[in-house]
Amino acid sequence: MEQTYIEDIAQKVGQEVLICGWLYNRRESGKIQFLLIRDGTGVIQGVVTKADGEAFEKALKLTQESSLKVWGTVRADQRAPGGYELQIKDIEIVQRVEEKYPIDLKEHGPAFLLDHRHLWIRSPRQAAILRVRHEVMQSIRDFFNERGFIATESPILTPSACEGTTTLFEVNYFDEKAYLSQSGQLYLEATAMALGRVYWIGPAFRAEKSKTRKHLTEFWMAEAEVAFFDHEQNIKLQEELVKYVIGRCLDKRARELKELGRQTEALEKALREPFARITYAESLEIINELLKEKIASGEVERLNWGDDFGAPHEEALGQHFGRPVFVEFFPAKMKAFYMEPKPDNPELVLAADLIAPEGYGEIIGGSQRISDIALLRQRLKEFGLPEEPYQWYIDLRKYGGVPHSGFGLGVERLTAWITGIEHLREAIPFPRMLYRLKP
Ligand code: 4AD
Ligand code: MG
Repeated sequence: MEQTYIEDIAQKVGQEVLICGWLYNRRESGKIQFLLIRDGTGVIQGVVTKADGEAFEKALKLTQESSLKVWGTVRADQRAPGGYELQIKDIEIVQRVEEKYPIDLKEHGPAFLLDHRHLWIRSPRQAAILRVRHEVMQSIRDFFNERGFIATESPILTPSACEGTTTLFEVNYFDEKAYLSQSGQLYLEATAMALGRVYWIGPAFRAEKSKTRKHLTEFWMAEAEVAFFDHEQNIKLQEELVKYVIGRCLDKRARELKELGRQTEALEKALREPFARITYAESLEIINELLKEKIASGEVERLNWGDDFGAPHEEALGQHFGRPVFVEFFPAKMKAFYMEPKPDNPELVLAADLIAPEGYGEIIGGSQRISDIALLRQRLKEFGLPEEPYQWYIDLRKYGGVPHSGFGLGVERLTAWITGIEHLREAIPFPRMLYRLKP
């Protein structure tokens, strides 16, 4: 008999199926046993009674996380978790777990769970988050593919910085020094000049010395870059992308979001309403006003011109708007070297960050890029960056330079928001953070 996956069980009501998976939990009450079986696509409750003979005896031997094959008949049952139940006919134990499984169904602390991340991801909750992450990734690919973008790749080993020199991971590259990529952007600018519209989803590395719930040292970024594309078009594309991803997750991962206990009102609102849009200057006024009591008591810092947002500032802004908000036109000095100045005020740049509501903070950073070669050289100097490793990047302005724009979306930040989880570390299979390299 062919294997049926638990996610397809609704189409098999009344039929006999084979489920291959692992035992998540077992309960016994006299002549009846309830097995919670998981197979990676979901969890189903199996029922076996003493009258079933051999299957009942085998079930008695099952320990948590033992691998097994189960044959049985599917019944719709409102009371069962997930709405379906399996009336078990036969069981084959593939591997019986002899030792006690480290993660039992009690509460464990985060350090213990992170040490056992290779097992923790089996828990239904973690697996549900990772299925939503998959949907985020796949919907990003579909979004760009449907619009004619070419998927391309940027290198991980790079000779220079993209996002400032303070968070670089250095590696020995034979006789040279190399850095793990902080962003694929600079190379995407080159491929955009070759292919027009490009995107990629790739890893990004930042030696962030801070321990926050929103920072990983290795994370995944979805980046797009488009030739002949301005700031306005860039912002529109970002809003369409985020809406597309949210729509897909609400539609295709409703079961997971429900399992995670996610209240989806804010996501539905983000889908329905246009994103808010304010300038950096306006954001300072709004945030300082919203947080005035906490500022007065010294709990939070007042924002002055040129200051970056901290977590409480982003959270206040997100809460105020209750939907994603673009903050645009930052002072050039507080951003990266490659951003195009605002024509009517060259102190500012044509950049925007997208801030998510519900405390999730910045999910996208994007900008129009400098197209003038002299200005780019001047900016490198102002930012204290040597020209030599950026020579190829300068070339892009020498040979057919055009206005172009792009952005980077944090995959874990968006996944965390959609799933409603507290910490980014659960939005990636194996998180890398300050002092956390294992497993
Ligand atoms: O705003 P960032 O630094 O922008 C760039 O790197 C641009 N070069 C992207 C581009 O224009 N192609 O990073 C983009 C996004 C942030 O908005 C955030 O969502 C996420 O990446 N991000 C992180 N996510 C997890 N952990 C970290 N340490 C992150 N740093 C940035
Ligand atoms: Mg940013």
